[in-house]
Amino acid sequence: ASINIALIIGSLRKESINRKFAEYMVSQMPESVTIKEVYIADLPLYNQDYDDTTIDSYERVRQQLKGADAVLIVTPEHNRTMPAALKNVVDIGSRPYKESVWTHKKVAVVTASPGSFGGINSGLDMRKSMQMLSAQMMIDPEIHLSRAIDSLNDDGSVSPRTQKFLQRFVTDFVDFAGNTSA
Ligand code: FNR
Repeated sequence: ASINIALIIGSLRKESINRKFAEYMVSQMPESVTIKEVYIADLPLYNQDYDDTTIDSYERVRQQLKGADAVLIVTPEHNRTMPAALKNVVDIGSRPYKESVWTHKKVAVVTASPGSFGGINSGLDMRKSMQMLSAQMMIDPEIHLSRAIDSLNDDGSVSPRTQKFLQRFVTDFVDFAGNTSA
C-alpha cells in the first residue's frame, strides 16, 4: 500500500532554501510514497472564536493532515523560533479541543539556515509543541543544515555531503512513516 506524506514548508518565500531541500528529499523518495504539500500561506491567523465556525482553508489543512501517515516539516527559524506561519498551522491543527490532528501523528522536522545554527531552534520548538500534542516525533537522525546556502547549487542540486545526510534521513523517514507497529 502506498504511504501518504504531508509536506509542510515553514518558509513562504518563493526562493526558499528549505523548499529546495524539501524538493531534493521528495526526489529521493520511493514510488510507494505519495507526497502532498499542505499549503499554509493562505491560513488566517488562528483564532479560537473560529472553532465554532467553518473556515475552508482550516478544514483543508486539517483533512490533509488527518489523512497523512506522516508529516514532514522542512523549515527555517525566524528570530530563534519557528516561523509564525508554521506555528499557525500547528495551532490550527490542534483545535477544536479534542479534535487535534496531531494526536499520535508521525512527524519529522528538518531545518536549514544560511547561518551556523542550522535553524535548530525551529526543530527544538517543534519537538516541544509536538510532545505537548502527543504526536509521535521521529527522533533520529536530527537534520539541521547549517551554512546551507553553501551546499545548494543554482540548479537546485545539493552537494554530495549533504546528499548523503538527506538520503539517510529520507530512508529512515519512509521506514518510520510506513511502520504501522510503531
Ligand atoms: C531570519 N533568518 C534567521 N536565520 C537563523 O539562522 N536564525 C534566525 O533566528 C533567523 N531569523 C530570521 C528572521 C527573519 C524574520 C528572517 C526573514 C530571516 C535568516 C534565515 O535563516 C534565511 O532568511 C533563510 O534563507 C530562511 O529560509 P528560507 O526562506 O530560505 O527557506
